[in-house]
Amino acid sequence: MQKIYLCQQLARVKLSRAGWASSVPDVPAAPSTRPARALRGGRPGALLLLGVAVLTSCSSPQSALDPAGPSARRLEALWWGLFAVSAVVWLVVLLCIVYALVRRRGQEVKPRGGGTRAVVVAGLIIPTLVLVGTFVATLSVMRAEAEPPDEPALTIEVIGHLWWWEVRYPDFVTANEIHIPVDRSVRVELRTADVIHSFWVPPLTSKTDLIPNMDNELWLLADEVGVYRGQCAEFCGAQHAGMAFLVIAQPADEFDEWMADQARPAETPTDPLALRGREVIESQSCAACHTVRGTEADGDIGPDLTHFGSRRTLGAGVAPNDPGWLGGWISNSQTIKPGNLMPPQPLAPEDLNALIAYLETLE
Ligand code: CUA
Repeated sequence: MQKIYLCQQLARVKLSRAGWASSVPDVPAAPSTRPARALRGGRPGALLLLGVAVLTSCSSPQSALDPAGPSARRLEALWWGLFAVSAVVWLVVLLCIVYALVRRRGQEVKPRGGGTRAVVVAGLIIPTLVLVGTFVATLSVMRAEAEPPDEPALTIEVIGHLWWWEVRYPDFVTANEIHIPVDRSVRVELRTADVIHSFWVPPLTSKTDLIPNMDNELWLLADEVGVYRGQCAEFCGAQHAGMAFLVIAQPADEFDEWMADQARPAETPTDPLALRGREVIESQSCAACHTVRGTEADGDIGPDLTHFGSRRTLGAGVAPNDPGWLGGWISNSQTIKPGNLMPPQPLAPEDLNALIAYLETLE
């Protein structure tokens, strides 16, 4: 949060020069260190605050403990099972230690019969049963995870890049946003264009790595309509944390409509400002890296922008997709997501305005 806040301030300085500052949305200020000081002071309120924070984190668009599909539900049951077993083992060991410290304090320990039997039972047989039991439970979940519960509605391809997600549907390409029909499984083939990444949507599925020169796959199934946040789960460089995506589960008719819209090339804008923006994208360096189907822009280094205006976020989830953030991103995305491949674009303010207007029409 501290980093996003600082980046936002930097973007605000840059944007104020380009006349966009008033539309930069506010991100809440970085949290102060007050809770940490309160904890050191031993205030009971701080512990309560911590407890509430832990409990609220269980219910979020990115919580494995708030499942919305059969795969994540199975994993949640396994998690709670392993948690319960670990808690019982921890409690028994703790009670033994407390008993030894409190009840036997100062007493002379004399060797007694039965010691060997206690070591064999408590140190060998019980741990073996616990470990074998949890291992078998884990294996059965892994086996159930291997195949989807129904015939997949479609197969898509997700390719990891530093630091964004290319999503290839049969008829079009998009980025950082995966739409799926609710209650139907979708097969996802996973590849990487560079280093190892890991695809993880905690409310829907287990995580699977994207490994160079290797094809992996998983399936996604949401049985509740909703927006679920996914995140790269394998450290892949400076913007590993800034490599997020959304999975949007929709009713079948909405999903079909979205597929049909996305398959169409970009429409020619009627607004003169947006029309000028299209000329900017075709004549400037944008076209070397990005594709907008239906125009001369056909680069394949960065995300496909044909329906950019329909996406909810910028830069793989680091900022909302609105004109203020978009202006900052085009002018100098390095202030928002340092290290990403897109260089600053020193456009004239009127070209920048036109480009923003055009990109926002690409729905
Ligand atoms: Cu990609 Cu971490």
